[in-house]
Amino acid sequence: MSRTLALVTGASSGIGAAYARLLSTDHDLILVARRIDRLSDLADELRKSGAAVEVLPADLATSEGLGAVVERLAVGDVRLLISNAGAGGYARLVDVDPGEIDRMLTLNGTAPVQLARAALPGMLAAGTGSIVTVASLLAFSAGQDNPHMPPRTLYAAAKAATVAFTRTLGQELAGTGVRTQVVCPGIVATDFNNGASRDVPFAMTPEAVAHAGLAGLRLGETICVPGLEDQEAAIEALLAGETALLAGGNRPTPAARYGQPQEH
Ligand SMILES: NC(=O)c1ccc[n+]([C@@H]2O[C@H](COP(=O)([O-])OP(=O)(O)OC[C@H]3O[C@@H](n4cnc5c(N)ncnc54)[C@H](OP(=O)(O)O)[C@@H]3O)[C@@H](O)[C@H]2O)c1
Repeated sequence: MSRTLALVTGASSGIGAAYARLLSTDHDLILVARRIDRLSDLADELRKSGAAVEVLPADLATSEGLGAVVERLAVGDVRLLISNAGAGGYARLVDVDPGEIDRMLTLNGTAPVQLARAALPGMLAAGTGSIVTVASLLAFSAGQDNPHMPPRTLYAAAKAATVAFTRTLGQELAGTGVRTQVVCPGIVATDFNNGASRDVPFAMTPEAVAHAGLAGLRLGETICVPGLEDQEAAIEALLAGETALLAGGNRPTPAARYGQPQEH
């Protein structure tokens, strides 16, 4: 059986490591993260199942790290990109160190876009490929004032951008054989946010998230919410809200509640 090549970012723990383990039965792998010791241990483990595994240490919050992964993807042989690396950095915007803003937005928002851009030419030339990004249900949380939710201005903005990016890119790639998917988990029991979610009784396991993501890809889902039963109704409601804003707001005059603009 011939193996396709997958690149997984954030493969040193949690959801990324779970993806890599599941994929190792029929894929060769490139594992990306900062902790090379963990990547090397996982690579040794996965080679036992017959996978060829490359380890590519990189800090995806920096242009150097991102550049190294972009360069590897530009070779054009990767057919499955899983952009999963991410961090919460939960804080109110006023409490965020200004120097951290670029790092957080690069890791959670820019990196998946740059990696997709680098992977696309090879996939398009082959007429096949999948670009998967792990976002979060918090991408849909901007309107929620629930005080139990973490302070998340930058995280929610970056993950929401990822959802819009994936959906729009999916339309752009229709008919090319290249697919896109954004995976939006709820709370997952990993090291994320200092392992806080491990104590949450309804947290999903990282293995279940990766399993659902890959099953959703086979089902053709562009948005995969691993815990959601009625996916179709929720996506329809989302589309209906977006259509109401787009179709209702795109008019030549301001809405009545704003009054008439002064004529000059
Ligand atoms: N756990 C949750 O409750 C939850 C919920 C929804 C969405 N998510 C998303 O799921 C994804 C995976 O998170 P997880 O839950 O599996 O947490 P995790 O166990 O903490 O894994 C995060 C992964 O991202 C990598 N990473 C973090 N910063 C990086 C950087 N600057 N450069 C390169 N790699 C970096 C980490 O590797 P190194 O530290 O070795 O670099 C690690 O492999 C993230 O995108 C997260 O936003 C998580």
